[in-house]
Amino acid sequence: MAGKRSSEAERELPVAVGKDSMPILMPVKSHFFVKWLHAGHYQAAADIECNSCERFWTLKHIKKHMYSRGGHGKVIANMKTPVGYIAYHARRDERLINVRNLVILPEYRRQKLASLLIDELLKKTEWYDRITMCVRESNYPAHKFLAACRFKAVGVKRDYFQDEFPEGVETEDGYFFERWVKA
Ligand SMILES: CC(C)(COP(=O)(O)OP(=O)(O)OC[C@H]1O[C@@H](n2cnc3c(N)ncnc32)[C@H](O)[C@@H]1OP(=O)(O)O)[C@@H](O)C(=O)NCCC(=O)NCCS
Repeated sequence: MAGKRSSEAERELPVAVGKDSMPILMPVKSHFFVKWLHAGHYQAAADIECNSCERFWTLKHIKKHMYSRGGHGKVIANMKTPVGYIAYHARRDERLINVRNLVILPEYRRQKLASLLIDELLKKTEWYDRITMCVRESNYPAHKFLAACRFKAVGVKRDYFQDEFPEGVETEDGYFFERWVKA
């Protein structure tokens, strides 16, 4: 699996050849680089989560996602420091990418970094037709972001989000968005 991931990375990331004929990662935007999310980034991704969201994924959730079948991720880094990440399931048999999580640190928002991470997925036209994502009904900024990225709300999943508290479980509906890759 690791070998496959790295060969996909070589094909997808913008690269140039340096003077020693070594591939150099090119920034997607001045100072910002998109890299595959790997074990060395898991703690940084967990730190981004707890500095960004009210109900966040922990290191355990990130590892569980990455070890699950089709679980992938990318980070966006300001030089070497990760400032956001995307976690998704790639389901080639259904020609579908399901985004499970997408987070940018608050101080780096509104600079099109999340859009750049979505753009990375849109390059995968060879294997996928559709990108989907389910977000909380109350997450209005995420609704606006997805609309700006030309996703359409196509359904509601009742009680999709389940939050465990000492007093019990709270649920929230999920809004299901999709975007056709060639749209
Ligand atoms: C949603 C989120 C990922 C957007 O990241 P971002 O890097 O700020 O998004 P972008 O800069 O690429 O935004 C692109 C466009 O989306 C829209 N948009 C993004 N955030 C918005 C907000 N808070 N309010 C209204 N519109 C917004 C705008 O049209 C924006 O373009 P503009 O800045 O030129 O107006 C970020 O706010 C975040 O990490 N939120 C917390 C985690 C979360 O809710 N993730 C999504 C669900 S899992």
